Amino acid sequence: MQLTLIFLASLTLLSTFLLAPTPSHASPTPIQIAAPLKRMTNAERLSRGLPPNAPVFKRLQPGQHQNQDRDAPTRVLAARASPSSVPPNRPVSLSGRIQVRTVEGNSVGYVRNWESGIFSTLPTDQLHVQFNTTASGKGPFDIIATNPNFPAPFYVGAKSGSLDFGRGNSNYASLSDVEKKPFGPGLSQSALWSLDPSTKQLIPHWVNSDHRTVRTQIGVDLRNNYLAFTGDVQAFNKANFWPISEVQFFLVPV
Ligand SMILES: *[C@@H]1O[C@H](CO)[C@@H](O)[C@H](O)[C@H]1NC(C)=O
Repeated sequence: MQLTLIFLASLTLLSTFLLAPTPSHASPTPIQIAAPLKRMTNAERLSRGLPPNAPVFKRLQPGQHQNQDRDAPTRVLAARASPSSVPPNRPVSLSGRIQVRTVEGNSVGYVRNWESGIFSTLPTDQLHVQFNTTASGKGPFDIIATNPNFPAPFYVGAKSGSLDFGRGNSNYASLSDVEKKPFGPGLSQSALWSLDPSTKQLIPHWVNSDHRTVRTQIGVDLRNNYLAFTGDVQAFNKANFWPISEVQFFLVPV
């Protein structure tokens, strides 16, 4: 025990010295370690009447990324700037296609232009959709099909034979064209979507008969081109012959 502690302590000491930048003149102190040399921060530039650095806009360029991430003052300025330029309640209208991805992030196709929940990898029959939300992506909102090659209704939602979903419960709904319905319980639900504004993930939220929103997983049955919503993919697979694998929906540009 004591030996282990001594060993750990010496490791910590050793790594402190190894990680510390080589001092050019003065002896190393913790203050120097915490304050590596860098260019003028935006705050410093602004206080001198200089234009800010442009790192925020170069963020995606390879090689620049790491330095900018260490540039804490820049991040603080960027974080302050974004809420004022995009208030979370600002209404936004978004449109595109719905890409179906595995939970690992691999695309398996797009929601098809078809009245029931079928996905497709063909470029020709992808469903185009539109919805209105806020900059925060907060739901619930409806999604409407804008290029339907099927008769009304044109809302993209869920239809089920069961009112309630839950963990350990194999009940499910099909992705389907549905009538527009206010947020709430029912065998057919349209206002069940929210959006993650940073990843553009579209997340369904089934509402149980007690008016509570429950975790809603999307599953794809690859053999039958079938898309289902359920509270529990594993429970669904125990109860059904054709298994589904969990997938996620993402809005991508047309
Ligand atoms: C979004 O709002 C526009 C303008 O009010 C409307 O035409 C459109 O149908 C709305 N979309 C949905 C999905 O409700």
